[in-house]
Amino acid sequence: MNPKIVEPTTVPHVSRVKGRLRVPGDKSISHRYAMLAAIADGTSHLTGYAPGADCAATLACLEALGVRITRAGGTVTIDGLGLGGLRAAAGPLDAANSGTSMRLFTGLLAAHPFRTVIGGDASLSNRPMRRVIEPLTRMGASIGAVDGRPPLTIDGAVLHGISHTPEVPSAQVKSAVLLAGLHAQGRTTVVEPAPTRDHTERALHAFGVPVIRVNGRVSVAGGQRLHAIDAPIPGDISSAVFWLALAAGTPGSDLFIDGVGLNRSRSSVLGMLRRAGAEIELVGHLPPEGGSHERSEGTGGSHGAGGSSAEALGRRSPGEGGSAEAEPIGTIHIRYRDPQPFEIAPDEVPGLIDEIPGLAALAAMQPGGRMTVRGASELRVKESDRIAMLARGFGNLGIRVDEYPDGFTIHGGPPAGGTADAAGDHRLAMAFAIAGSRAPGAVHITGAGAVAVSYPGFFDELERIARDQ
Ligand code: S3P
Repeated sequence: MNPKIVEPTTVPHVSRVKGRLRVPGDKSISHRYAMLAAIADGTSHLTGYAPGADCAATLACLEALGVRITRAGGTVTIDGLGLGGLRAAAGPLDAANSGTSMRLFTGLLAAHPFRTVIGGDASLSNRPMRRVIEPLTRMGASIGAVDGRPPLTIDGAVLHGISHTPEVPSAQVKSAVLLAGLHAQGRTTVVEPAPTRDHTERALHAFGVPVIRVNGRVSVAGGQRLHAIDAPIPGDISSAVFWLALAAGTPGSDLFIDGVGLNRSRSSVLGMLRRAGAEIELVGHLPPEGGSHERSEGTGGSHGAGGSSAEALGRRSPGEGGSAEAEPIGTIHIRYRDPQPFEIAPDEVPGLIDEIPGLAALAAMQPGGRMTVRGASELRVKESDRIAMLARGFGNLGIRVDEYPDGFTIHGGPPAGGTADAAGDHRLAMAFAIAGSRAPGAVHITGAGAVAVSYPGFFDELERIARDQ
């Protein structure tokens, strides 16, 4: 995937992590801003757009749907076509490895009056799509699939609003339904079985669409126009977690990660790292107290509540104040202190689902480390079966992993050495590399190029850390 990464990749040894670094732009926010910019009125400028293959797939799909996009440095400029303005693509859309692209596009295209076929790579072709097909069909959409899996054939139709309670907590499902709801007649409501990342709600607000959020219900009215935005995209905490885990597990470490998204619906991994014995401070622009859960919003404007940081996201135009709905950005300062075994309870899983491989790396590198997670069977339908592939990869590095249908226990560490296969999964490649950087023996990773999905510069950064320690 990344031509610079040789096969198999040899992991450098790290003896401590010091200094400052930044991580690539947030993948979840990048997808959403790009899609909403495409259906907004006017031209949006998104700075710090995620550099990985997943978010590039979203841009390529938008271009195929008639959207004009220019890229300069880390800034992506998108000329919006207005609500319902996407045009039929000449051929099938390719979502590559990106589940978020596939599910959100399915919602976005369900009301556009033409046929779209959307597929992806082997991993994506195996991922469950009934969770979006079912509610969108109830709204009036016509979506074909084979056994509930991609490729999907979407025949746009007139949609009507529904109330939907997803069977599993999923921000992708919520977002697909809300994006369809934007184009539907009446009001569309998602009742969340447990809170999930709220980037879609915040992004809608930033683009000028009121979203009502009360007691776990999120609702939007159809037919509203969106306004273009100029907005920075914060660093991805799901990428930062790998350096946080390395620092938390490596004696003498003292690391600052700047410009990271600290949205409360994404940052519960910080509490987990504290539970695992790390010392963590947030510096600079902190999330507004009270967050944004369970409140209703007006159309744009400032809501006060301490969200006036100059770096706050979601400004409608430069100079306008931030709001409690803006995406907070800050610096995470982490110091190695006193590593402890830790457990992730089922109700904590939705808040840190993407950070579990990084946390597993922390347990795996730690002498006497132990981590247990249960209630996480969703991990089996991610970019790989993350429970089975994580157990196999760490097992090959000499780490004992007990596997359960809905989770695992990792017994640290550190890994002895050996070769682990990333199984085509970017987060597993990074987890094996982080734990492997603490191994006394040589560690190799096959398929490490998968990091290009979210973090193309990951191995360069790891080499730099190993050199500078
Ligand atoms: C995402 C939601 C999560 C997460 C994925 C990105 C998003 O998936 O695992 O990496 O951007 O909405 P689910 O919604 O399937 O839980």
